Amino acid sequence: MTARLLDGKIAARQVRENVRLAVDQRLAQGLRRPGLAVVLVGDDPASNIYVSKKRKACEEAGIVSKAFDLPADTSQTQLLELIDQLNQDPEIDGILVQLPLPDQIDESTITEAVGPIKDVDGFHSTNIGLLTQGTPHLRPCTSLGIMRLLEVNEIEIRGKDAVVVGRSNIVGRPIALELLLANATVTICHSFTKNLRARVGQAEILVVAIGKPEAIPGEWIAEGAVVVDVGINRTEDGKLVGDVGFAEASKRASWITPVPGGVGPMTVAILLENTLKSAQSCD
Ligand code: GUN
Repeated sequence: MTARLLDGKIAARQVRENVRLAVDQRLAQGLRRPGLAVVLVGDDPASNIYVSKKRKACEEAGIVSKAFDLPADTSQTQLLELIDQLNQDPEIDGILVQLPLPDQIDESTITEAVGPIKDVDGFHSTNIGLLTQGTPHLRPCTSLGIMRLLEVNEIEIRGKDAVVVGRSNIVGRPIALELLLANATVTICHSFTKNLRARVGQAEILVVAIGKPEAIPGEWIAEGAVVVDVGINRTEDGKLVGDVGFAEASKRASWITPVPGGVGPMTVAILLENTLKSAQSCD
């Protein structure tokens, strides 16, 4: 079997276009543009790239993005003060604090400080709790983006054996909750999992989010599986590779995400959708 590509660029373009149309409609109704605060602390090169993609996508969709670029030695108190201001700012509908944060700042203190109604990343315990209970409001962008990518390609999830490798708060846990909400039977694997190969080999839908270049050999993938590779890693010779060995995996899978151009563009597109949703629920 040769896998078909789950093209995130195409699916993301559609989401972004729909957001742009909805923003135009808001303006026609006399409502203001949605506003997103994008907070970047320090100068992590990958974060810089992600944040500039998010800001550009906002502009194209007609969302106002306000940039807050803080130095790497910003204290937790200073960052909390900024978040407090943004929570109170009526022109700001969404607050995004790019992760990871420098060591002096505790990430969960920050994600809990963003008011749940402006939490366009869906990381606040209230939003994760709602997703856990099957009544989501704002949902984490990458995992919702993956679900949308599966949906637009008409991939059935109900009743399927889904395996998630990775249990981060940003991707692994939320995608496991999303797959469960869509009625898959979900297994979460992590660094203590015994016989990972056997688990991966059982997956009808496999999501890998561990951030290690080609850590899952393509030979492990079951014939006909749907493979979603969230990883984006730069190798020593400057190439971008995922967490799954693509060449071998694509001989076995029925569908597979390319890296880049798979999950990444969906994360950005859903961020815009969440910002619009947040603005609509503030109207
Ligand atoms: N770092 C990696 N992915 C994400 C994301 O979706 N949101 C934020 N805020 N930081 C990230």
